[in-house]
Amino acid sequence: MIPIQPAAPEGEVAVQRDIQHYMRPGSLQLPALPPLSLYIHLPWCLKKCPYCDFNSHAVQGDSAPEDAYIAALIADLDAALPLIWGRSVHSIFIGGGTPSLFSPAAIDRLLGDIRARLRLSADCEITMEANPGTFEKDRFRAFRRAGVTRLSMGVQSFHDGHLKALGRVHDSKQALAAVEEAAGAFDTFNLDIMYALPGQTLEQVDADIAQALQFKPPHISIYHLTIEPNTYFAKFPPALPEDDTAYAMLDLITERTQAAGLQRYEVSAYAADGHRCWHNLNYWQFGDYLGLGAGAHSKLSFAHRVIRQVRFRDPARYMQQAMAGAALAQDEEVSRSDLPFEFMLNALRLRHGFGLRDFTERTGLATTSIEAALQAAERKGLIERDYARVRPTERGFDFLSDLQELFLSNGN
Ligand SMILES: C[S@@+](CC[C@H](N)C(=O)[O-])C[C@H]1O[C@@H](n2cnc3c(N)ncnc32)[C@H](O)[C@@H]1O
Ligand code: SF4
Repeated sequence: MIPIQPAAPEGEVAVQRDIQHYMRPGSLQLPALPPLSLYIHLPWCLKKCPYCDFNSHAVQGDSAPEDAYIAALIADLDAALPLIWGRSVHSIFIGGGTPSLFSPAAIDRLLGDIRARLRLSADCEITMEANPGTFEKDRFRAFRRAGVTRLSMGVQSFHDGHLKALGRVHDSKQALAAVEEAAGAFDTFNLDIMYALPGQTLEQVDADIAQALQFKPPHISIYHLTIEPNTYFAKFPPALPEDDTAYAMLDLITERTQAAGLQRYEVSAYAADGHRCWHNLNYWQFGDYLGLGAGAHSKLSFAHRVIRQVRFRDPARYMQQAMAGAALAQDEEVSRSDLPFEFMLNALRLRHGFGLRDFTERTGLATTSIEAALQAAERKGLIERDYARVRPTERGFDFLSDLQELFLSNGN
């Protein structure tokens, strides 16, 4: 990354630029702009989970400051509009935190305010994350009526002991009731499941997946529990299954989901035909996204550059800055030499890999710039390719970071 203004340590400088800055000539020539998505971050949860390093904060008092936060999001969007002028939005993802803490009326207002400012494509996918602990009768249907088309449920497990060990606010009964309601209210939905949990056995993973599949979910995201720095678990690590057991768990999950008609189309994502998550696919295909909300990240393309932005992370600071039209804490141009690695960090997560034309279209670089790395990856059996596409092999999928690192620039 080339910092075009030194990355501002949070709490100091806000970055403000006008549109001419992004439109000026540069060393890249992008033949077309990629599809655009919108990410909205709602940073509050009922309580902080011990494994979580997302920008999420336990709600103070009874509820999140919905009205003030939505006003800040819209002020932030107004300030960002010139950067995406004339472009349609193909997907919206309301993530968190726990977005389902917000009332359906607040989500309705938020989506209405967005529609008044942006052109959404006719089939725009609108996903919202929900936590079974915020479930109450008819709440999900009300989100549906507000315009949400896809619900992503943070189930994690259906086992009471494991839910407790993860510090979740819900038990298995609430998880079952919430998934049933989601399945009834939405044509398409996702379940987030974690495995390799403290004390978990292979049989218990099997039971969790069997329970999840009973609901015929069109999409499941399955994550290996990772111990992230600066979390409670990093300080007080629980006893986790051995690596070999965790690999066996993943094999079992892939086998069971495949038998149920779900394809593993990305490292952690399994979907039935026609139910892949458009929003996440756009990230993995190196599409563009504008991220609004505390700590949200954006990636945006212009005719001669690709930029990344980060908004202020602390919710109170974010709201104050956004209302002043200055929500950016960082704004950097991705350097030519970093673009191949950045592209591969995303595209090689996909089972079907990427088209060579898409590489050129999204990075503005010729495929000759990655030819040496592609040859090295092929020699190591990590990719297979034809004249048009590059795909990770089974081995490449298993050793993904080794494969991606081949595309790191050597500083030249
Ligand atoms: C931002 S959370 C979204 C939903 C909501 N906040 C919840 O937890 O129910 C996204 C998902 O990331 C996964 N996740 C979070 N922290 C993780 C960790 N340390 N290791 C593995 N997966 C994690 C969980 O499956 C979680 O549902
Ligand atoms: S509910 Fe989700 S976002 Fe909130 S702390 Fe737990 S894992 Fe993190």
